Amino acid sequence: MKLLHLDSSVLGPHSVSRQVSAAIVNRLRQATPSLEVAYRDLTQAPLAHLSGSHLAAAQGAPAPAELGPDLAAGAAALDEFLSADIVVIGAPMYNFTIPSQLKAWIDRIAVRGKTFSYGPNGPQGLAGGKRVIIAISRGGYYGAGSPAAALEHLETYLRSVFGFIGINPEFIVADGIQVGPEHREKALADALHAAASLRAA
Ligand SMILES: Cc1cc2nc3c(=O)[nH]c(=O)nc-3n(C[C@H](O)[C@H](O)[C@H](O)COP(=O)(O)O)c2cc1C
Repeated sequence: MKLLHLDSSVLGPHSVSRQVSAAIVNRLRQATPSLEVAYRDLTQAPLAHLSGSHLAAAQGAPAPAELGPDLAAGAAALDEFLSADIVVIGAPMYNFTIPSQLKAWIDRIAVRGKTFSYGPNGPQGLAGGKRVIIAISRGGYYGAGSPAAALEHLETYLRSVFGFIGINPEFIVADGIQVGPEHREKALADALHAAASLRAA
């Protein structure tokens, strides 16, 4: 069984989402020692944003030579995702949504004919067999009914985009990280506890 672990916080070891995503992977590894784990740090090796040349190449147009390495990197990211049984993602909230590095990765895995298609009944997700677990961390609080709820485009976006490709992701949430040290400590401890209590792979 293969697990793909992704991180997207720029804060290195200080990052909450990185600590929680690592705890999720540890829990699943302990439960299934034979798990094959691949790690991708989207801030250390970011994928380029899509360009017109990418889209033309995807339609079969000849790609300029300088795009070759990036097309290969995008194809490798897609293959890695397709071959994973479990995907664990660390996803901090930046300006109310996901980091642009994570969006660049999503742009490489949301591919028509690979992870979704359009049929007579509209869009159809093709990646349904995977388990996706996402560790999200947010500076404030965005619960239903809270004043900031309408600004929440991290969890809602991830739920939508993975839903579109056929996956219902699981979330472990650490909220209020910037509200104060006690809030941060409690949110991190609760999220680490949730990670340690996850159902096995
Ligand atoms: C560039 C940047 C933008 C941020 N934008 C928001 C935001 O819009 N809303 C929010 O609640 N917190 C925001 N924060 C706070 C982070 O979501 C919070 O610190 C979270 O813990 C970051 O995840 P990390 O600890 O894994 O890096 C932002 C932090 C940074 C660095």
